[in-house]
Amino acid sequence: MDKLVVLDFGSQYSHLICRRIREANVYCELLPYNTPAKVIKEIDPKGIIFSGGPASVYAKNAPRPDKEIFKMGKPLLGICYGHQVLVDTFGGKVKRTTSREYGRAGLIIEGGGRGGEQNDDTSDLFKGLGTGIINCWMSHADAAETLPEGFKVLARTENSFSAAIGNPEKKLYGIQFHPEVVHTEKGTQILKNFAQTISGAKPDWDIESFIEATVNDIRKQVGKEKVLAAVSGGIDSTTVAALMHKAIGDQLSCVFINHGLLRQDEEKEVVKLFKDHLGIKVIYVNAEKQFLGKLKGVSDPEEKRKIIGEEFANVFAAVVKKKKEREKEDGDDDNDVESFQWLAQGTLYPDVIESGVSKGPAAVIKTHHNVGGLPKWLNLKVIEPLRYLYKDEVRKAAKLLGVPDELLKRHPFPGPGLAVRIIGEVTPEKIRICKHASKIVEDELKATATSASTSASVASAAAAANNNAGWYDKVWQAYAAVGDDRAVGVLGDERVYGHVVIIRIVESMDAMTADWSRLPYELIEKISNRITNEVEGVTWVTYAVSSKPPATIEPQ
Ligand code: XMP
Repeated sequence: MDKLVVLDFGSQYSHLICRRIREANVYCELLPYNTPAKVIKEIDPKGIIFSGGPASVYAKNAPRPDKEIFKMGKPLLGICYGHQVLVDTFGGKVKRTTSREYGRAGLIIEGGGRGGEQNDDTSDLFKGLGTGIINCWMSHADAAETLPEGFKVLARTENSFSAAIGNPEKKLYGIQFHPEVVHTEKGTQILKNFAQTISGAKPDWDIESFIEATVNDIRKQVGKEKVLAAVSGGIDSTTVAALMHKAIGDQLSCVFINHGLLRQDEEKEVVKLFKDHLGIKVIYVNAEKQFLGKLKGVSDPEEKRKIIGEEFANVFAAVVKKKKEREKEDGDDDNDVESFQWLAQGTLYPDVIESGVSKGPAAVIKTHHNVGGLPKWLNLKVIEPLRYLYKDEVRKAAKLLGVPDELLKRHPFPGPGLAVRIIGEVTPEKIRICKHASKIVEDELKATATSASTSASVASAAAAANNNAGWYDKVWQAYAAVGDDRAVGVLGDERVYGHVVIIRIVESMDAMTADWSRLPYELIEKISNRITNEVEGVTWVTYAVSSKPPATIEPQ
């Protein structure tokens, strides 16, 4: 399979470059900027991209790639800081400019291309873009003052005469803007041109071939041994289970631990979905009492998380131990060492890769074996079949593996569950309120997806406002939180000092930032009415209107 490599000089967008190249069906890996040329030669990429980064090339300890890379004759594309590295390396001059560019800028494409004629840029980097002005995203204070020999200007902005430069003979290109961010029009096309046209990489990376290759790898790696996987009903652990099951069938055992802090009926739904849609049997462990017992009297958020993490590991270890003991009793000697040899985990590519300037020059590729908080003393070998995938690729794989939409569309749910949505001590009463009120929130948002034919209903009005897409699918997360605050209400003729419930509904791309959803008032009203009417002990409902930052998505 043809590959590209991105060297990470510390830009916040480095992973994004990698993802965009993969979207162009070319496999791409992200490596630290100082990866030795020897390592890159072994990978044998068709082309190399230098990412952006916060440094200045003329600074004393500016991060530099291994010089030998320039002797490899590979096509190179420098982006932002990477562009300046190219300019500096090949004899041009980079200087701090008086006119910094941050944000949107008009990229004027004129001239360049192999023919060198004016307005001819159909041959390589800007192939298919046409001439004229397109929006691009800039973020730099330094710029090329003079170009190295053999390079010509391919595009400019008002403030930057060398926004894109190239030496087509040597296949060296530099762009000052960020093609990987959505604000750059046709940016993906530019990266695709570098990957496919300039580097000549065959577009043979897709999720179908990934699944096929991974299934073969799993079979080779695992052989006849047995694998254990903890499943939560979340997309990552479900996809791991589906992939492992496709590869090794019943050699896989899945465990679902109910810690008593799940969404309403979640445990039943997950186990059923696994059985009915994926044909995977799940060992269901009800550890509700054990978890809630340990959480009694604890109100510190970090302490709650710690207890849940530890308890999870204990319960999981008990499952492993029990299975071993049972097999001993049965005289089962088909695996005479121990019953499970492997632990399958849903680690993704961004968890595996730590690179870039921020981690210092000694940055290495690191594997996190602590995903899910499972300890080393379980003595199981770890298999991570999703370690080369990004989240959107996992979603595609899940779909191809037959993971039902019901599960794919489910909102993300934190590992410690309702413990981070219950402010203060976790009590049975607060769990009841949190579960029930959250179910109402979810149901009302889901109901907006119905067609707008009954125009009188709140649901259809909201659907119309949102092109009938349905609020549940539009938002990132939606739930009710509860704490110890109480407020007076009058229920019937009785004065009641009830709980205050907080509704939290946010929109987000990746949970790094989030904005509160501007739900129609009627929909908020309906949710509020239902909660105070149906959830015993609740007198007030509030709507959280803090974005992240400064707030977080979960209250604890
Ligand atoms: P915050 O609250 O940090 O949440 O804005 C960002 C995203 O992460 C989820 N989250 C967690 N997930 N274990 C998890 O597996 C946790 O301890 C945890 N805390 C928050 C949260 O639901 C949101 O999607």
